[in-house]
Amino acid sequence: MAKTKSSYFCQSCGYESPKWLGKCPACQQWNTFVEEVVEKKSNGVPDWKSAGSASLSRVNKPSKVQEIVYTEEHRLVTPDKELNRVLGGGIVGGSLVLIGGEPGIGKSTLMLQLALIVPKLKVLYVSGEESEQQIKLRAERILAKPMSDCYILTETSTQNIFKQIELLEPNLVIIDSIQTLHSSHIESTPGSVSQVRECTAELLRFAKESSTPVFLIGHITKDGMIAGPKILEHMVDTVLQFEGDRHHVYRILRAIKNRFGSASELGIYEMEGTGLREVSNPSEILLSQREEPLSGVTISATMEGMRPMLIETQALVSTSPYGTPQRSATGFDTRRMNMLLAVLEKRCGFKLGAKDVFLNIAGGIRVEDPSIDLGLVAAIISSHEDIPVSYKICFAAEVGLSGEIRAVTRIEQRIAEAQKLGFEQIFISKYNKKGLDVSKYQIEIKIVSKVEEMFSLLFG
Ligand code: TYD
Ligand code: MG
Repeated sequence: MAKTKSSYFCQSCGYESPKWLGKCPACQQWNTFVEEVVEKKSNGVPDWKSAGSASLSRVNKPSKVQEIVYTEEHRLVTPDKELNRVLGGGIVGGSLVLIGGEPGIGKSTLMLQLALIVPKLKVLYVSGEESEQQIKLRAERILAKPMSDCYILTETSTQNIFKQIELLEPNLVIIDSIQTLHSSHIESTPGSVSQVRECTAELLRFAKESSTPVFLIGHITKDGMIAGPKILEHMVDTVLQFEGDRHHVYRILRAIKNRFGSASELGIYEMEGTGLREVSNPSEILLSQREEPLSGVTISATMEGMRPMLIETQALVSTSPYGTPQRSATGFDTRRMNMLLAVLEKRCGFKLGAKDVFLNIAGGIRVEDPSIDLGLVAAIISSHEDIPVSYKICFAAEVGLSGEIRAVTRIEQRIAEAQKLGFEQIFISKYNKKGLDVSKYQIEIKIVSKVEEMFSLLFG
């Protein structure tokens, strides 16, 4: 007889405690402990072939760094170039990839699309959320004739999934979603911390031992965490986040953690009636094509990962009808906006204290690169003074607390991208001038060191 044991788990970080606790000692959250029955079958069927003990019996010896032979991991390069880029050049054999995102953002679509387009491979798409018919309908919308051998399995028990995997021997496994799976080794309900942890651990062992890459879809809770939760991020090799505004067509696939590549890479897709389309040249779509310049709109040269991207930054400054002015930013950090407003007020003497200020990054995307500071500051003042900034001008610099204009990384790539897209002027920091060969470019490079200096060049 198996012994029933129960434990308390923090639903926020997965911390395990034998007793109920009010506050989690690991993540400091209150009231997050829930009792879960944890029943381990001591002599049952192994969860995955080796059942842990085999890997324990192998003894590893320490080796000198110089003596370790490094061989480039074998990567499966998919036809989806954006996904390859985010993963660091393709799917690594035996890797476990978690893809998180809000409901309805397109995770299932992205993964089904991947399952259908990898040429000549056997792919197993396991769904615990939708029926075979629903998936078939979706598959037909995406691609009339799949290029891969794609098998659909609607199953939620990991033991049954592994049985089918043994029969089918797929080259790639996709699980939609990890929160619907359950393992018979654990008593608690699907989606609970201990189930999610156990199912992920079983899939991890499978991935490593069979060298089959596994993709897990994970839901995100209201506060933006992958539900069932942080522990998952530690276990997997790569964490990708699929994000975007549901009312916009653009979706961004971002690497948050990647053991096999850079974690700052980014892929852009457009959601169409026939699935997700890769956007290989983001600047051209993120810039709206208008003839007449408008006040409050400027263009910034940012970097997303290794790729330069020109985006439109918009500001609206208006007199506040109420005592407390409103400040709101979409796609940009509100605290950073408040800091930029304070710099304009204190260092440049603009009276913005009683004004409503709204900022927006066009296209529904979120930018964290501080190089859009200068463009935003120019947009705010352009709206405040109601003087348009020419569409042929773009900006790439950070703004410091004293109103100084600071250098940004990879300035040459940004300038080259701006030039390629036909801009006539780019404003950069004087600290970026060192080592920069200005004569190399046709685009006029305006070098500024203070925000006031830029204003007198722009608005006279
Ligand atoms: P879905 O992949 O089901 O999202 P998730 O798995 O993240 O919950 O995608 C949901 C949305 O995508 C849905 O609102 C419909 C839209 N969609 C399209 O616009 N075009 C398509 O070809 C498909 C398949 C979905
Ligand atoms: Mg889904």
